[in-house]
Amino acid sequence: MRTPIIAGNWKMFKTIVEAKEFAQNAKAGNTSTGVQKVICAPFTALPALSAELAGTDIALGAQNMHFEEQGAFTGEISPSMLKEIGVSYVIIGHSERRQYFNETDETVNKKVVAALKADLVPIVCVGESLEQREAGETSDIVRTQTEAAFSGLTPAQVAGSIIAYEPIWAIGTGRSSTAEDANETIAIIRSVIAEKFGQETAQQVRIQYGGSVKPENIASYMAQPDIDGALVGGASLVADSYLQLVNGAS
Ligand code: G3H
Repeated sequence: MRTPIIAGNWKMFKTIVEAKEFAQNAKAGNTSTGVQKVICAPFTALPALSAELAGTDIALGAQNMHFEEQGAFTGEISPSMLKEIGVSYVIIGHSERRQYFNETDETVNKKVVAALKADLVPIVCVGESLEQREAGETSDIVRTQTEAAFSGLTPAQVAGSIIAYEPIWAIGTGRSSTAEDANETIAIIRSVIAEKFGQETAQQVRIQYGGSVKPENIASYMAQPDIDGALVGGASLVADSYLQLVNGAS
């Protein structure tokens, strides 16, 4: 049995004041159990959120990090800097970082390795563009990205990671993938993990869907056998909406 995980990805939204307000509202309404809850906030809001959410079951995630431990990398944040402020998860290879910040399969792999070494749980994003989908390339794309991201890792490391399947055309567009289509691609990702790391690992690793997930459609995704939760952008920005997503997954 895989524990479902609902991760909010706030992207470049929320000041410290706004993040604290979210945390206070989320704490007040947080009653569901049996779902892992994660908020991936901008770096600046993480220390305040860490203090506000201490003692709750809402964990903290970052949205990126560098793969080196330290060095002359102006503007970057290392895995241990994240650990130091109470972060336990880190999104790696989000399509926005691949598209706008030159993230490649190679850097994604280096970051996954570095995250696991630092005892951070990587949430590894894979997914095809609309062009690729229309050209029938979805399964090739997710296979290539998945194989590259986990290259050189042990089955145990892969089992402890999280994969987020996010079709790029469904992100922030209101055009979500059908639950059936998302499940089909997620099953392909799981089969790639089985081929490379064994069936047991494939059954353990959690794979989320992401792309226009909302309180109204979360249940349809959760009803699918291979979908273990969601990585949510827009609908995670309001505490009540985030908690409704969690309820929908429990
Ligand atoms: O990381 C989250 C995804 O990019 C989905 O964003 O829920 O706003 O479509 P969205």
